[in-house]
Amino acid sequence: MDHVADASEREFESFVASELARGTNFVTVLGGEPSLAAERVRYLAANFRLVVVTNGLRPLPLAGLEQATIAVSVWGDRRTDRRLRGYNRLDLFERSLANYRHDPRVVWYMTLPPSPSEETEESVLACIDNGNLVGFNYYGDLDRVGGDLDHEIGFERARSFVDRMIARYPGHIAFGSYLNTIVTSGYLKGSRWGYDVCGSISIADPANASRLANGHSYNPHFNAYGPDLIKPRRCCVGNERDCKTCRDVWAHMSWIALSLEHHLDNASDFYSWVATIYLFYGVCGVIDRQEFRGRLAEINRRDSEAVRSPFLAASHSH
Ligand SMILES: C[S@@+](CC[C@H](N)C(=O)[O-])C[C@H]1O[C@@H](n2cnc3c(N)ncnc32)[C@H](O)[C@@H]1O
Repeated sequence: MDHVADASEREFESFVASELARGTNFVTVLGGEPSLAAERVRYLAANFRLVVVTNGLRPLPLAGLEQATIAVSVWGDRRTDRRLRGYNRLDLFERSLANYRHDPRVVWYMTLPPSPSEETEESVLACIDNGNLVGFNYYGDLDRVGGDLDHEIGFERARSFVDRMIARYPGHIAFGSYLNTIVTSGYLKGSRWGYDVCGSISIADPANASRLANGHSYNPHFNAYGPDLIKPRRCCVGNERDCKTCRDVWAHMSWIALSLEHHLDNASDFYSWVATIYLFYGVCGVIDRQEFRGRLAEINRRDSEAVRSPFLAASHSH
């Protein structure tokens, strides 16, 4: 996606210094493969709260990364994972499971196709049996593979699958039913997802100036950088991505976070908002890990209940 050179050591250090100077306290590393630059990841962890997204093939070290959250990618069921990530040869999923067995830093980041197969639950269970938490993501068919991966199919079945997983394994799924509903429906309180409302856009990219002035909320600190770490790009998923079909979970999480005032009409709405924020802080390691795990089942149960309440059901119809 990026056609710029990687930052040199000096540029990397000056990037960290300038982010510290402007008050940055939280960094997400995704894109490329961070385990190939473990020293840099460690340096970031020494300076910021950190979430790192990795393919899981090469384990990230423990030393210096004890507090980091490690999101390990897996793509649907084993067959889909091998097809999309393993060139039908490599069992990346097995390797990642072995690398992160009982590692409390890990949340699996399971990218789902529009209609997850029955076997997908086995992959979820393998992650849970591995002693890790599980979160989700939804596949964008950017390479136009088509067929069962075509995102135009819509994600209603993926939404049902995630809700089923939350209901069956509430103490292990770090992903709320409300978040699931918002990302897969593309609606929040009657407002439709898209560039005009996405709040995770770089404040320092001049291309975003008119969006920042359109009256919708945005994260006033957010910047996404490419590998040169110099010029912010429009957002995490890049300048070319069509926002209408973007189902970036973190961007939708921000959308909810920035929409507090739309969740104050009744207790169910407010609970959904609080639960989403709690899950976010839990995944990111802001909340003590033990405490988060201890409360997860109850948070999920109440969040799912709130999503099924008549207030919310009404607000998502369009
Ligand atoms: C771009 S990857 C890079 C980090 C790392 N190399 C990895 O494989 O996880 C970061 C995350 O983006 C997700 N991702 C990549 N392409 C995607 C797509 N077309 N649709 C949805 N998610 C995607 C992956 O599942 C992965 O969890």
